[in-house]
This record gives sequence, structure tokens and C-alpha cells, in this order.
Amino acid sequence: MVDVILGLQWGDEGKGKIVDYFAPKYDIIARFQGGPNAGHTLYVDGKKMVLHQIPSGIFHQNTINVIGNGVVLDPVTLKRECDAVAAYGIDVKKNLFISERTNIIIPTHRALDKASELAKGESKIGSTLKGIGPAYMDKTGRNALRVGDLLDKNFTSQYIKLRLKHQKLLDNFHFIEDISSWEEEFFEALEFLKTLNVVNCEYFINNQISAGKKVLAEGAQGSMLDIDFGTFPFVTSSNTISAGVCTGLGVSPKQINEVMGVTKAYCTRVGGGPFPSELDDATGEELRKIGNEFGATTGRPRRCGWIDLVALRYACMLNGVTQVIMTKADVLDAFKELKVCTAYNINGKETREVPFQMSRVKIEPVLESFEGWNLDTTQMKDAASLPATMNTYINFINKYIGAPVKYVSNGPGREQIVHV
Ligand code: GDP
Ligand code: IMO
Ligand code: MG
Repeated sequence: MVDVILGLQWGDEGKGKIVDYFAPKYDIIARFQGGPNAGHTLYVDGKKMVLHQIPSGIFHQNTINVIGNGVVLDPVTLKRECDAVAAYGIDVKKNLFISERTNIIIPTHRALDKASELAKGESKIGSTLKGIGPAYMDKTGRNALRVGDLLDKNFTSQYIKLRLKHQKLLDNFHFIEDISSWEEEFFEALEFLKTLNVVNCEYFINNQISAGKKVLAEGAQGSMLDIDFGTFPFVTSSNTISAGVCTGLGVSPKQINEVMGVTKAYCTRVGGGPFPSELDDATGEELRKIGNEFGATTGRPRRCGWIDLVALRYACMLNGVTQVIMTKADVLDAFKELKVCTAYNINGKETREVPFQMSRVKIEPVLESFEGWNLDTTQMKDAASLPATMNTYINFINKYIGAPVKYVSNGPGREQIVHV
């Protein structure tokens, strides 16, 4: 049985905290896509920790954490992160397992990401520059190196072949940065990677499922950044939606049980691309300030706006969401009036559907107003104490998106969550 936790917006919905919260109920936590572009924040013993490659269940001693075949893995980031979690007494050699089919991000992937973004100029995607796009291109282009290749005697020659191919592309981009130090740390990190548990993951996970173990699949990014259904081309390069769990871990659709979708009580996006309910004003600035909306991976300020129910309903449909977890509700504590986007006005026509092209048309959000609760909710522990105005806000959302909000997160801490 596999449950899923994934983002319903443009990423950074608070997946890390939520996975960490639910982890004790599961035997295995498995990342199924994305790579070090992810930044999942959680608090361990009151200390902030940001995970990029390792699943967010790593701080629970008895939980197995899996990096699935659908992930692209930067060995350098992984090594750094393993060192950081070891400081908490976590033995990654015991509870981290990596699929032999996981694709490796090599230094020239990062260089290509940078060169490609530079070449795009104004129309750049706003990539995290971690090499994600180029690494997935080599996967679908059937050139990639995979973790299981590490022990192959031809690994180095395969690497040199790929590097040369990349060099030609970099020359075309007139990219002249010296990346020899990147290569040095890359090879050092590969030696470390060889000491970890590399497994035939699809058998590993399915055997565990057959033995009655419970698996939680952890998504990265968000549904609106999905390569097929997101705001293309301002997306990431993987399938972030629940369908990606099957291809990213090797489990059948029949195994998927609960799909828990995480959304903020408002909306943010980092990087370029359409964002119909964006607030380019003092209210947006206030959301950014109170919500501390700065990227966990790149530190960039996140763009902020009201919750977009058109996009959220779309995400619930695509993912088959069975329950919604609403995070950062406390960030709205200070607002007297709240708004939600209920439709898009495109050239004078209103629609409740996400259009094919969002970046080439002007989308005006149709907004509905709600009274804010205007009180401190951060210490609330149960549904009965939540303000009536918050219930009105949530009930409207439930009805619109056709999926129930089951948890409200009211602070970054592990214990700050209310079951409604
Ligand atoms: P992820 O990528 O989905 O895991 O989200 P990030 O970690 O990138 O960003 C979420 C940010 O919001 C982190 O700084 C979290 O510590 C914080 N956070 C998560 N849930 C809550 C919440 O309910 N309230 C507040 N105020 N902060 C939260
Ligand atoms: P988590 O898992 C928010 C965005 C980037 C950029 C676009 C493409 O923390 O929610 P990429 O590096 O994938 O080529 O970037 O996607 N992006 C994210 N935004 N949260 C993330 O991950 C993101 N991962 C990528 O900002 O706009
Ligand atoms: Mg994040």
C-alpha cells in the first residue's frame, strides 16, 4: 500500500514538514522524482534543516528512506546532506536506500543548465541551476549514467564520452567557466555514493509492500510545475503528479491508496512564469514578510498571491487527491480581508479551467472576498478552537475543489498541525 504526499501549487507548499509529521505512520518514505532543485524544510529538535535529495523521513530512526529511479541525483549534494544528518546521529548506511536506476547529475549538467538559462535572457525559466533539465534530457535521450553503472568497469569511459558531448554544447553556448573544481568534488562524492545501499528498488519496494509494509511517496516541486500539465515551459522536467509515483518507484497504480495534496492557504511561486493571482503590491509584500517566503534552495524571494482555486481544482483532478493539507494558515492571521481566485478572465471570457497557454494570454483573476479571522492561531491544537471565519474559508475551498481539507498547519513546528 502506497500513500502519497505531493504539492498542489508551484512548490514549497510545506511538503517537508508534512512528510516529517506523518513519517512515524510509515515504514518507508520514498522520493519518486525531482532532484536537488527541491528544498524541503523541517525542524529537528527545534533546529531548521533543509533537505534536497534525502527524503524527509530521515530523522525517524526506524524509517527506511528511498531515493527512487525517477529522481535525478547529484552525488555532491547527497554527500553534503548525509554529513549534515549524521551530525544528528542518523546512520544513512542503515536507513537510506538508492535505486540502481536513479540517474546521476554530472557537473556538466549544471554547467549546461546555467548556459541554457543565460542564453534565454529575458525569457529564462528561473531554474534552480542544479542541472535538472539537462539531466532529464540525458535520461530521455538515453545517454545518462545511472547509479547502478558506478561499479561497471566502463563507468569512467562512459562519463568521459558524455562529458565530451556536453562540452560541444557548452562551446556552442560560449560557456567558458572553469568547472574543474566541480569535477573534483564530484568524483570524491562518487566514492562516498559507492558505500551506500544501492538496490534493485522496484523489487525492494514491492517486496516490502507484499510483506505488509506501508510506503509514503514524497513528491518534490508541485503540480503546476509538472512537465506535462504545469505552466509549460515554466516548469520543471519531471512528472510531479501522482502518476509519477508509479514510474518513479516502480509500483503499480493498484497500489496507490491515499493521495494527500499539500497547498498553502495562499499561493507562492519562485522563478519565472504565469501566476494569475499574484499580488504585486503591499499585500503581496506582507505575505512574503509574514510567511518568510524566501526559497529554501536558492534564497530567492518568492512571488506571493491569493490562493488560486482554478489551479488547485485542476491539481486535485490530475492527482486524484483524497485529502488536502492546508499549510501556513497562520500566515493569514494578520489579514482583515482574504481573497480567493475563483475564475480566470481571458479576453473578457470567464473560465474555471486552466488553459493550454497561460504565458501568452493575459489572465485577470476573478476574486471573491472573505472576512479574515484576525487572531493568533499558532497555538491552536484542535478543530473546535479554529475560528468560524477560517471554517467558512475552508468550506468554500472544499466545495470548489471537490476534495476535503483534513489538516490545517498553523506554524512550521512538527506539533503545529490541526486535524479538522
Ligand atoms: P516544501 O518544499 O514543500 O517542503 O516547502 P519549503 O520547505 O520549501 O517551504 C515551506 C516553508 O514554510 C518552510 O520554511 C517551512 O518551515 C515553513 N512552514 C511549513 N508549514 C508552515 C506553517 O504551517 N506555517 C508557517 N508559518 N510556516 C510553515
Ligand atoms: P520543492 O520540492 C519551488 C522551480 C524553479 C523554476 C522551475 C524550474 O522545494 O517544492 P528547475 O531547477 O527544476 O529546472 O527549475 O521550477 N522549482 C521550484 N519551485 N519549489 C521547488 O521544489 C522547485 N523546484 C524547481 O524555481 O521556476
Ligand atoms: Mg521547497
